[in-house]
Amino acid sequence: MMKILETNIENIKAAAEIIRAGGLVAFPTETVYGLGADGLNPIAVAKIFEAKNRPSFNPLILHVCDVKSLDRITVIENEKFNKIIEKFWPGPLTLVLPKKQIVPDIVTAGQDTVAVRMPDHPVALELIKLVGNPIAAPSANAFGFLSPTEAVHVVKQLDGRIEAVLDGGKCKIGVESTILQAEGDKIKLLRPGGIELEAIEKLIGKVEVSYEDKAKPNSPGQLPFHYSPKIPLRFLDEVNLKEIAGKRIGGLFFKNAESKLKFDKVRILSDSGNKVEAAANLFKMLHDLENEKLDLIIAEKIEESGLGLAIMDRLRRASKRF
Ligand code: TXA
Ligand code: MG
Repeated sequence: MMKILETNIENIKAAAEIIRAGGLVAFPTETVYGLGADGLNPIAVAKIFEAKNRPSFNPLILHVCDVKSLDRITVIENEKFNKIIEKFWPGPLTLVLPKKQIVPDIVTAGQDTVAVRMPDHPVALELIKLVGNPIAAPSANAFGFLSPTEAVHVVKQLDGRIEAVLDGGKCKIGVESTILQAEGDKIKLLRPGGIELEAIEKLIGKVEVSYEDKAKPNSPGQLPFHYSPKIPLRFLDEVNLKEIAGKRIGGLFFKNAESKLKFDKVRILSDSGNKVEAAANLFKMLHDLENEKLDLIIAEKIEESGLGLAIMDRLRRASKRF
């Protein structure tokens, strides 16, 4: 059984000791719970891949507690990235940068770049500081399944596989970080996430959207199915009535549960139609529906602006498992 630790300073110290000794601890961030290991210890990092059943070609993010820690692991050559760090760190924004030698190959899946971010969560920042090295952390879920936004979600998927989880309550952003990479002068969006694309473009100008899609579904780390519940998920406007006859159906709506279909369970992401609130509720509500012994989840589409871009990205991938 994994330990569920309240987030007091003694427990954060105990968690840091586990990580320093090469073990794994799940911890809260503002986006989703991370599964942390000492990011400069390749054997510890290997345990992450084992605990999650994650393919080793999928690289990890290194989490730092301050900007000066970046010097050990990377260099920032791009002036736009300095602006981004100043404005959005700590926060749900990850940068893919050139890696220094000290970063183990297992972290970067053999690539010469490393993904880094500074999370906006006091427990995460204290933990990283006490560990003394950057913490490598993917989302603390079994590979391909729903991301955890509460400690119970971590227990549900990883019990028996890791030492402990620091229980920091509900994650306030609820979707993973936005990931950016520079290519010459161009900035590319690798994953939509907790910082809105519009806010980034306001600061640094046009960003090239280069995640997914139909044409190229297998670009690194962007597997076509991901973030999925253990039951099929379909979009409301694409439902095949034959497919749903006689089934127990859950509905995931944005604002209003308006539909001619009959649902056995319904969740509404934001009664007021607020996309920030919808993102914060997304994985929790999908976990709730997954726990309800349903045959199918039907989700309403959300307009793809602001956090709607990240929400639709997660839902699309969830719909591709079955
Ligand atoms: O909000 C988040 O980013 C959370 C919390 C825990 O910080 N972490 C997270 O990690 O979502 P993970 O491993 O679930 O997703 C990291 C993504 C993957 O899609 C991976 O392929 C991509 O980042 N990535 C990591 N390193 C990369 C690199 N060097 N180049 C391109 N993509 C990279
Ligand atoms: Mg993940």
